[in-house]
Amino acid sequence: MGIFVSGNDRVFTLQTKDSTYQMKADTHDVLLHTYYGKRIDPEDLEELIFKADVGFSGNPPEANGDRTYSLDCLPQELPSSGVGDYRDDMLRLTHADGSTAADFRFQGWEISPLSRPVPGMPALYDTPEESGETLIITMREKVSGITVRLYYGVFEEENIITRSIQVENSGKTPVVLEKALSCSLDYLFGDYEMIHFSGRHAMERSLYRVPVGPACVSVGSIRGTSSHQQNPGVILCRPETTEDFGDCYGFCLVYSGNFQFSAQKDQRGQTRVQMGIHPDWFRFTLEPGEVFDTPQVILSYSPNGLTTLSQQYHDILREHMCRGVYKHAPRPVLINNWEATYFNFNREKILNIARQASQLGIEMLVLDDGWFGKRDDDNSGLGDWFVNEKKMGGTLKQLGEDLHAMGMKFGLWFEPEMISEDSDLYRAHPDWAIQIPGREPNRGRNQLVLDMSRKEIRDYLLERISDILGKAPIDYVKWDVNRSICDLYSHTLSPKQSGEIFHRHILGVYDLLERILERFPDLLLEGCSGGGGRFDAAMLYYSPQIWCSDNTDAINRLSIQYGTSFFYPISAMGAHISAVPNHQTGRSTSFKTRGNVALSGSFGYELDLNRVSDEEKEMVKEQIATFKHFYDLTHEGDYYRLTGMRDQEFVAWEFVAKDKSHAMLTMVKTDSQGNPLPVHLPVKGLDENRKYVCSYNGSIHSGRVWNQCGLTLPIVPTEYDSLVVEWSESDA
Ligand code: DGJ
Repeated sequence: MGIFVSGNDRVFTLQTKDSTYQMKADTHDVLLHTYYGKRIDPEDLEELIFKADVGFSGNPPEANGDRTYSLDCLPQELPSSGVGDYRDDMLRLTHADGSTAADFRFQGWEISPLSRPVPGMPALYDTPEESGETLIITMREKVSGITVRLYYGVFEEENIITRSIQVENSGKTPVVLEKALSCSLDYLFGDYEMIHFSGRHAMERSLYRVPVGPACVSVGSIRGTSSHQQNPGVILCRPETTEDFGDCYGFCLVYSGNFQFSAQKDQRGQTRVQMGIHPDWFRFTLEPGEVFDTPQVILSYSPNGLTTLSQQYHDILREHMCRGVYKHAPRPVLINNWEATYFNFNREKILNIARQASQLGIEMLVLDDGWFGKRDDDNSGLGDWFVNEKKMGGTLKQLGEDLHAMGMKFGLWFEPEMISEDSDLYRAHPDWAIQIPGREPNRGRNQLVLDMSRKEIRDYLLERISDILGKAPIDYVKWDVNRSICDLYSHTLSPKQSGEIFHRHILGVYDLLERILERFPDLLLEGCSGGGGRFDAAMLYYSPQIWCSDNTDAINRLSIQYGTSFFYPISAMGAHISAVPNHQTGRSTSFKTRGNVALSGSFGYELDLNRVSDEEKEMVKEQIATFKHFYDLTHEGDYYRLTGMRDQEFVAWEFVAKDKSHAMLTMVKTDSQGNPLPVHLPVKGLDENRKYVCSYNGSIHSGRVWNQCGLTLPIVPTEYDSLVVEWSESDA
């Protein structure tokens, strides 16, 4: 049991294996946040809150002249807005009379033994082996009567707490939500830093670490997707926290649209941290009786540093977010024709790539962009989801059957959420694109975005995609999104609903994905947005793997995959071996190193194997065997980052099997210096009381020795060289 209620039903303590989260309804029914951190006993901790008469921090009427009681200073679970708490609010309302006060007070609670699915959005789900419990706290706005339900999910073993809220207009007049975040919490004491993962197209998720002080630090996206530029996975930690030491807290929003994370120290040294849908371009009207649900945020705490925090996220996302046949079933090793041909292909070229690939052991051919409508470049055709049989030299059914006859599965690219102006769909339905009448729209990749809030558009896409998937033996779909959204306008929403478009759009995307998977439950989906522009927990609900980046350069991939690993499982990262010189950077690295980097991901190839040497063809066979040999580690094991990304000459990481029977370490040399220093590889996570043999030098030591002493390479590898080492349990 992870939820304890005490103190006359007013103290709520959430217990996970290693963490405790507590809140308390105080004498004035304000829901205080009293603690989040290392697991302790579920005792009332209100006394930790320091109260003082603070100038310019006023007092609510029920304080009855007690000048030490101020909403401006109290740590709260649902901070009030406009009634004396001057810090960032979590829920901002405009009432029918134009007033904006929102003062929420505790009303009651209940517990459900199950996790709560968030209506219309992905969320952690229960399995037969494990259910999360849910604490539901009801808050009521003092005057308007608006109800807010705070949902706290507890996955005890995984050290996970989830939060989401539901706002119900239980008043008599419409109310406008100006801001509705998923969580807000106040840390009472101490200094913190924020770790965020920011970047750009083809260079996603570089790690940044900044102090949290009185100036608000914040990241977010207003692009309509979670974005390449920022990621909805952010960490709050102590300044001294490292991979193996110290307090850290993860905030992972289960949402693929606009988001915001912020952290700021208040005047009393308390740190307020918030996450949820970005309040910019958000304005949602609730008529009496209507409800609004916020996405779920997955919180996790580790007292032992960042590696443990990441492992907790990997475990929960693999088990309780990823779904479908391929949640655990081995994913096929694929070859994608994009970098091999771009738009310039025909049936013979594709079959040639497939033939060679199948001979080398590759299991699936993914036909990328260009097989439909008029689509020989990226200026036309999106929306016309009809096979271009002339270009394809026949039907996709024939192609699929040919591939299946070679023993290969068949994967197909789509970009359903987009429309080209040069398309039959646009000519028939110009109003289906998001653009403002009378205003020339901004184009991204020369395309517009379909208004996914509209059911008839989703129905069209469902019908088209189903028709194609139904007529050909297609095993996999790569679902791409290649621009950000702006010029917001929907022909079916009223002007006062204009602030609802972004959210309704992403709900529409989820609805379409869900309906496609209902029809084709065995389909393997790979998410994609120009690489990793929509790499978030919500997409994992539909696609257990996501193309990590359009950048396939093995050296750049080190930092992209490193940054991605803080929240997302390695099994989720699409990683391919491509040709050299690399198409994005012009850099050449060896076939071996490209393979060693791609092995830590959803492994595949993205080149024409007819153009590689015989020696490299042999390496393909070996790489596939190695990938399969280590599959249980990379896809189900515990992941350890052994180095950071900056100021060093090599990068290394490791996987350890859950049963600790074996481990795999990868090292890539990223720089060379004169008079080189030794490469000393740390080893982590082996069972201290078992013996392991190392594949690199045959040495046998106890796990205790390996964990303590690591492995020193006798020769310093050259720049961009790499190695993979295995430790296996030994009886010797
Ligand atoms: C962007 C993707 O990330 C690429 O892999 C490729 O599918 C192109 N789109 C196709 O247009």
